[in-house]
Amino acid sequence: YRNLRVALLGGGSVGAQVARLLLEHRDELANRVGASLELVGILVRDLDAPRTVDLPRELFTTDADSLILGADIVIELMGGIEPARGYILTAINSGADVVTANKALLAQHGAELFEAADQVGAQLNYEAAVAGAIPIVRPLRDSLAGDTVNRILGIVNGTTNFILDRMDVAGDSLEEALATATELGYAEADPTADIEGYDAAQKAALLASLAFHTNVPLEKVYREGITRVTPQQMESARKAGYVVKLLAICERLTDPETGEQGVSARVYPAMVHRGHPLASVHGANNAVFVEAEAAGPLMFYGAGAGGVQTASAVLGDLVSVARRHVMGGPGYAASSHADLPVLDIGKVTTRY
Ligand code: NDP
Ligand code: HSE
Repeated sequence: YRNLRVALLGGGSVGAQVARLLLEHRDELANRVGASLELVGILVRDLDAPRTVDLPRELFTTDADSLILGADIVIELMGGIEPARGYILTAINSGADVVTANKALLAQHGAELFEAADQVGAQLNYEAAVAGAIPIVRPLRDSLAGDTVNRILGIVNGTTNFILDRMDVAGDSLEEALATATELGYAEADPTADIEGYDAAQKAALLASLAFHTNVPLEKVYREGITRVTPQQMESARKAGYVVKLLAICERLTDPETGEQGVSARVYPAMVHRGHPLASVHGANNAVFVEAEAAGPLMFYGAGAGGVQTASAVLGDLVSVARRHVMGGPGYAASSHADLPVLDIGKVTTRY
């Protein structure tokens, strides 16, 4: 077998699980790829920090440049904007392919990174950046690339779905439900990104860009979080046959005022009819409901977060980019080419 050198940037919740699975399934993965995937190092901040996963100590390093420049494939699982952005650009420009789960970075700087990858023919895969373990990026980019996606309704934040579900089924207040989410480890230490809808807005920008083959910048995503949802609203929704869900809504639309045709990405708490498949998404699960012209309705459902679950999507991306090293041929054009206007029209409807 040929040997492919894999560098891991980040050894936290997701990174440690990726490293464990990569080492444990080394032989099977080599058979699937046709090359061995050698984990050459794991970049962390603190070499002495206690680790929840038992990994060989000699793999850990704080020397980013040596690790990145010696790799065929770089997996970025650090999170945040810098230095992740700079490291990914270094990797691309040194001829490596890249896998990342960093939705915050892609939603803000995706256009720049995809362009850089396209210029040198590198691959930049990011299945784990939207809805954790659920395959949705490649289905939109590849499987549905010949169809026309008209609309996506996504429950793409597990913490807020857990909170709204508790308010609905157990009658909890938002504060009580958030405390339970924190106890169970779903919510972030600072849950603002979850409950104010920032995390879902980042994912909406990525989903809309993929679905409509255009660039939907994060600042064009209309966003409202769940902090103003009250138990009384939940009760009224229930009586009317609906449930309140924080939705990421991406659709092709005509601006009712200007008649301009374009696309829109929005995040806000919406009323979902109890008969809609999204109404049955409970707990911290995620689901993405896609309406395509030829395929009709499709639903992608499962774990939207969690270290090991998210590691599944990262490893799928790794196998995919590694296969291209073995088989050759062009990678995917990562950047978007259509130039559709992104409409600034706020809430269109609150019922689905
Ligand atoms: P963690 O905070 O658990 O881990 C981050 C890792 O990166 C740590 O090992 C940390 O080192 C390292 N790191 C961070 N900054 C630096 C730096 N400047 N230099 C060197 N190392 C650094 O994050 P997660 O594993 O939870 O998330 C990783 C990515 O995956 C994020 O982009 C996140 O949005 C995404 N994601 C996460 C999901 C989840 O369920 N956790 C789900 C879907 C996506 P040290 O250990 O020394 O602190
Ligand atoms: N905080 C996020 C959530 C993690 O609750 O869904 C996964 O992106």
